[in-house]
Amino acid sequence: MKSSQDIRKEFISFFKDREHQFVRSSSVVPIDDPTLLFTNAGMNQFKPIFLGQESPGYLRAVNSQKCIRVSGKHNDLEEVGVDNYHHTFFEMLGNWSFGDYYKEDAIKWAWELLTDVWKIDKDRLWVTIFQDDDEAGKIWNNVTDIAHDRVLKFGSKDNFWEMGETGPCGPCSEIHYYTGDLTKQSPVGVNKDENYREIWNLVFIQYNRDESGKLTDLPAKHVDTGAGFERLAAVLNGKVSNYETDIFLPIIDEISKLTDCEYSESDGAAHRVIADHIRMLSFAIADGALPGNEGRGYVLRRVLRRAARFGRSLGMHEPFIYKLVSTLAKEMKDAFPEIKEKRLHIEKTIRAEESSFGDTLDRGLDIFSKITKDKSKGDLISGDEAFRLYDTFGFPLDLTQLLAREKEMLVDESGFQVQMDLQKERARGAGNFAISLIEKEWNIVTTGKSSEFIGYSQLKSDSIIRKYRQDNNKIELILDKTPFYAEQGGQIGDTGTIQSDGLTIQVNDTRKEGDDIAHFGTIISGAIEAKVNVEAEVKSDRRNNIQRNHTATHLLHQALKLTLGEHVHQAGSMVSHDRLRFDLTHHESLTSDQLISVENIVNENIGSNSKLDVRITSYDQAKQTGAVALFGEKYGNEVRMVTVPGFSCELCGGTHVNRTGDIGAFKIISETSLATGVRRIEAITGAAVIDLIHDYEKILHECGMILKTGFKDIPDKLNQLVTQKKHSEKQLEELLQGSQKEIVRDLISQAESFNGIRTIVRIIENAGDLKMMGDEFRSVFKTNGVALIFTVLNQKPMIMCAVTDNLTSRIQAGNIVKELGKFLGGGGGGKPHLATSGGKDLAKLDDAVQAGKNLIQSIISKN
Ligand code: ALA
Repeated sequence: MKSSQDIRKEFISFFKDREHQFVRSSSVVPIDDPTLLFTNAGMNQFKPIFLGQESPGYLRAVNSQKCIRVSGKHNDLEEVGVDNYHHTFFEMLGNWSFGDYYKEDAIKWAWELLTDVWKIDKDRLWVTIFQDDDEAGKIWNNVTDIAHDRVLKFGSKDNFWEMGETGPCGPCSEIHYYTGDLTKQSPVGVNKDENYREIWNLVFIQYNRDESGKLTDLPAKHVDTGAGFERLAAVLNGKVSNYETDIFLPIIDEISKLTDCEYSESDGAAHRVIADHIRMLSFAIADGALPGNEGRGYVLRRVLRRAARFGRSLGMHEPFIYKLVSTLAKEMKDAFPEIKEKRLHIEKTIRAEESSFGDTLDRGLDIFSKITKDKSKGDLISGDEAFRLYDTFGFPLDLTQLLAREKEMLVDESGFQVQMDLQKERARGAGNFAISLIEKEWNIVTTGKSSEFIGYSQLKSDSIIRKYRQDNNKIELILDKTPFYAEQGGQIGDTGTIQSDGLTIQVNDTRKEGDDIAHFGTIISGAIEAKVNVEAEVKSDRRNNIQRNHTATHLLHQALKLTLGEHVHQAGSMVSHDRLRFDLTHHESLTSDQLISVENIVNENIGSNSKLDVRITSYDQAKQTGAVALFGEKYGNEVRMVTVPGFSCELCGGTHVNRTGDIGAFKIISETSLATGVRRIEAITGAAVIDLIHDYEKILHECGMILKTGFKDIPDKLNQLVTQKKHSEKQLEELLQGSQKEIVRDLISQAESFNGIRTIVRIIENAGDLKMMGDEFRSVFKTNGVALIFTVLNQKPMIMCAVTDNLTSRIQAGNIVKELGKFLGGGGGGKPHLATSGGKDLAKLDDAVQAGKNLIQSIISKN
């Protein structure tokens, strides 16, 4: 068996020998490309180079890129597990030329590696080229020894490669491997029959497609290739299925072990799906993605729920998928050590998702069977039904579609979408204060460039109104330039005023609308009509506080990494004027020592009063400097890098203090759990810390006054008091018991006798523990005694009845208190010898005493 490790190494060294620079795989979560949810091809990280926006430090590159294809243009999810060669996560081996070699070397080297080095049978290889690309056809025929009738032409669907709706693209030439019976090959099967597997794609990048769909020539011509690592591993080991290679077998074996279900190629879809999905989930989580309700997070959730559902077909009702992470970590430790490094975080995240979905999955599956019970093949599952499964049971649409397909049914996708849109509408209607403005027409005041942000360096500007819309005194304004920061990257929007002769608008919030900076406000006086020039001024105290909190957030991030470890990443943040909130990936609560250490590190940095360095640089330059790019943030080629010299460096568009000393002070005020693997810290800075100290001081001062002692002695004094209190309580109890004994003896001496039975029916103040008193009555009476005691506790009447053992067959305490409890508007009961009850109606207490007497007498006289 040829190991996959060797295949990866041989590919890379083949191209290194041909002067290619090895470049590490980029993250599967693309942080520098807003057009992508996941890295879907090796070329993604080189896109700016192809577009001529960046120049590479090298002309040739090689790597093995982690790729995910579950969304967007390249989406293989439906095939995964059903067949044995599509994956949600896979490695793409690639070699690149940036304006250097072109078609000839790309074709020659691919052929050489496959047929010369790896000795793949040429009689199983087929090559496709783009129908108009005669140049590529000639090269295949002239520089390789492929049989001419094995080079086939196809149209743009198969042989024009594009990374997405927009971006670099060009004609391509694919190499396919035939896995079937040698005698049955034919050109007709290529791109049709699954026995012909595409193993390598050579793309000749020469165009860019823009948003309008137009192709333009790129400044240079490039080569972008991608060979399917898992497919090559199968081919080089004579296997038809990728799952029978050392990339998947250890995981499949582990699944068999955990589920007690053997794997077979013919009946192994569930094993395959789970083995595939655990790789996608682990790599995505290792690179910072987390399951969630939107975007990338929802893709993870969908994939995990799909895996969980296949787990059910293997009889697994408890979380188990997370247990596969350690096997994957072991297999990947050399090429991708991140799985091992983040194993704990990955396991915990997957496990939490599995258990939360586990609760609704079975019920959802039940509902699904009910929905389909009366339907037959070809019937439609309605949009309402699919939406209910989604909304109530957490079934992603594709899970319902998968279940439907198994029953040869379809789901009304557009009906589902209608329900989704309605739900979004409802949510919007519930929350957005600007909703009424959305309905209004824009008034265009002037035209030209708008929304230039000048608020990094100034808080006031003379601006020109570009447009506005209005609903009574509510207004939304767009200016040519503005010092107002629009909510972004966790930092809240600025407030302030916009003024002109007689007109005053109070700006309550600033937000981004597309590229525009929208000021939302209230007209306090005057009218906007006919106004063009305004003075826009940010509320400076508030902004200064926001800046303190923002810079402190950067310091906190780094201090957490230093205190807890490199696994700490920012999972979310909110920077406002009165506090900052920071969510971090970490699995346990922070100890008080850790919290103190974090606070100390931040405060030391504040004390050192370093001047912040803020500069615009290229993304790559920033990464080289070690800048922390945040998960889920999108960065262009030009990035703003915020550095606290010698301590922290982050890519950030927010506003910051000039020097760390401006923050004044930093204090954590809470640390809680947000979700599995995510903690939330809230903290304050500057004057808010002093305010907090004042509050604490006030409380301590009050305590000192009450305790009549200085601050420092409060704990000792409190301890003393608590001990004293316990002691006094014990003494009091003893005293009460003593006096209770006396009361009982006294009462018994006054007992009335009916038919030889001593009876006491009385109201008593401060009766103490009623049950204890009942026991005392019984032990002093010994025989022939009944006591019925009423008392008042917390403004409510209470009743106790005690009966000596020799009488319980005739007189039952439980029945007596029950009856009298009802009389007093309450309830209760108990055993025949001792029972208590309570009532509500104090006014009836005297009547209850009389009723009690009558009741006991009537019982005694009856028997
Ligand atoms: N970028 C090309 C692909 O993904 C190589 O197929």
